[in-house]
Amino acid sequence: MPQGMFDDIAVSPTQMRREEDLVQRVLRSFDGTPNPRTKAIMQAVTRHLHALVREVRLTEAEWETAVKFLTDAGHITDARRQEFILLSDVLGLSMQTIAINNQELENATEATVFGPFFVDNSPCIDLGGDISGGASGKAAYIEGSVVDTEGNPVPGARIEAWEADDTGLYDVQHADGGTYGRAHMFADEHGQFRFWGLYPTPYPIPDDGPVGRLLRAVDRSPYRAAHLHFMVTAPGWRTLVTHIFVANDPLLAADSVFGVKASLVKEWTHHEASETTPDGRDLHGRPWARTRFDIVLAPDASMR
Ligand code: BEZ
Ligand code: FE
Repeated sequence: MPQGMFDDIAVSPTQMRREEDLVQRVLRSFDGTPNPRTKAIMQAVTRHLHALVREVRLTEAEWETAVKFLTDAGHITDARRQEFILLSDVLGLSMQTIAINNQELENATEATVFGPFFVDNSPCIDLGGDISGGASGKAAYIEGSVVDTEGNPVPGARIEAWEADDTGLYDVQHADGGTYGRAHMFADEHGQFRFWGLYPTPYPIPDDGPVGRLLRAVDRSPYRAAHLHFMVTAPGWRTLVTHIFVANDPLLAADSVFGVKASLVKEWTHHEASETTPDGRDLHGRPWARTRFDIVLAPDASMR
């Protein structure tokens, strides 16, 4: 049904019936789908897509633009670049899917977008080690705990952390093929962890493809609020994919992928080079920052 700013476009009753008849015929074409979930999804896709093109009275030129957009997204997508996930991210669909799938998790730490820059087999560091691996940026000490929803420690939880350097790029975006700004470690017997990394820097999502063109056409920024990624896994617990953000970052309210959740925004303290570091590490005259991230894992639903 046409709605909102398209209300004034006259559609005759005959035309309306013709359009509705087509919707019904397409819906019925899925009646024989053996898998009921596939059938429900394909019929919902049909209803919503037809409602969309009817609401905006899509022109044939606009349909061609949409097809070209999707074709370009396909062409730029390869093993390292996933333009369709980026599209889902900037439309808020990734975060909506995360919201739908994390609704019953009590006081568990909130999840946010995975992003395209995770890499398997990151270096393993000891607790208190440095994930930066020489990447440029202000040193930051991050400490915290991993507990379950009842407050019991989760000893041995595997904590992956990854982040961009202060030029706004991840290691995989640099041409040198190096691995830096990422590592994993294991929480100690009390579920505690600590490591050195970099104070997070805001950066733009890859905007040299069709998604970037879309953002420019709608006057939206590609920038993400500054963040540090985490993935926390432990047998029997639901895998947590999340980030921590920086309090008072002006981009918190304008994150291009809608990934910010208030509970993930952390206060970071800033320290002069002359101040002693928490673990006595000598930073050779560099100032440093510090924050804390206490993580609560939810039980793995499939194990309950
Ligand atoms: C990221 O934070 O790494 C990211 C998330 C979504 C899209 C692009 C990048
Ligand atoms: Fe990121």
